[in-house]
Amino acid sequence: MSELVSLELRAAVAVVTIDRPERMNALSWATVQRLGEIGRELASDARVRVCLLTGAGDKAFCAGADLKERQGMSRDQVREMLSAYRTELAWLSESDFVSVAAINGVALGGGLELALSCDLRSAVESATFGLPEVGLGIIPGAGGTQRSAHLLGQSRALDLVLTGRRLSANEALSIGLINRLIPNGEPLLESTLKWLAPVAEGAPIAQRAALLAVRAAHTLPLERGLDYERELYERCLASADRDEALRALAEKRPPAFQGK
Ligand code: COA
Repeated sequence: MSELVSLELRAAVAVVTIDRPERMNALSWATVQRLGEIGRELASDARVRVCLLTGAGDKAFCAGADLKERQGMSRDQVREMLSAYRTELAWLSESDFVSVAAINGVALGGGLELALSCDLRSAVESATFGLPEVGLGIIPGAGGTQRSAHLLGQSRALDLVLTGRRLSANEALSIGLINRLIPNGEPLLESTLKWLAPVAEGAPIAQRAALLAVRAAHTLPLERGLDYERELYERCLASADRDEALRALAEKRPPAFQGK
């Protein structure tokens, strides 16, 4: 089962690659279980600051549910699959590290939902995006209706979910579905990591506080969100890294953060 998804650790960065290019990296039951295993492994590794999720090959990030497997599934098995999306993929939006979808090709259906579960998204120029589920007589079932509305607003989410149309990477960038478009000829993972160097190398306590504070904005009413922001600021204020940053600034040298 381990060959379905690979994990590579590069210092503070984990690279998770869905490795089923012959099926456009589609999400089978075993693939989702393996992603869950990897998420649990990474959650217990305090060194990890950034996790890149990508797909093998140059055609697909992930073409969504494995439709060949789905044909042989009972309705109860599909229900179990929907629960598994929720339990096994939650780490992408709940871990202490920043999760980033590095989208190397098509991101359709559950593939786009996987990308929407991540904190950030970069994509190659040839990537395409869509939530085609209604055309298959269903709706997005791995958080797509909710996360697209949170990220893009109701009107744009309805456009995607109701029409099922395919978007280019340029359109995805223009509506905020992706953060970065990596131009042709530039390597996706390396360019994405260059963009995220401040996250991988910055003050760990402040980076984590910033991540938790912004994520909470989806779920907390403003006054509680402001309280939470204050609580998280206190963690930074109490840190030695905050003092080190001020000292480094005065001494005109780069700070040496220790995560304390
Ligand atoms: N599940 C399982 N296998 C899939 C798949 C999926 N979601 N998407 C593609 N594949 C398989 C194809 O069946 C094909 O395998 P085969 O040659 O053994 O039949 C292989 O991947 C290549 O796909 P193909 O369609 O020939 O490549 P393409 O470049 O012309 O098109 C896609 C790629 C992804 C655009 C197209 O396959 C597609 O639209 N797939 C369905 C995506 C979808 O609707 N996902 C949402 C599910 S809710």
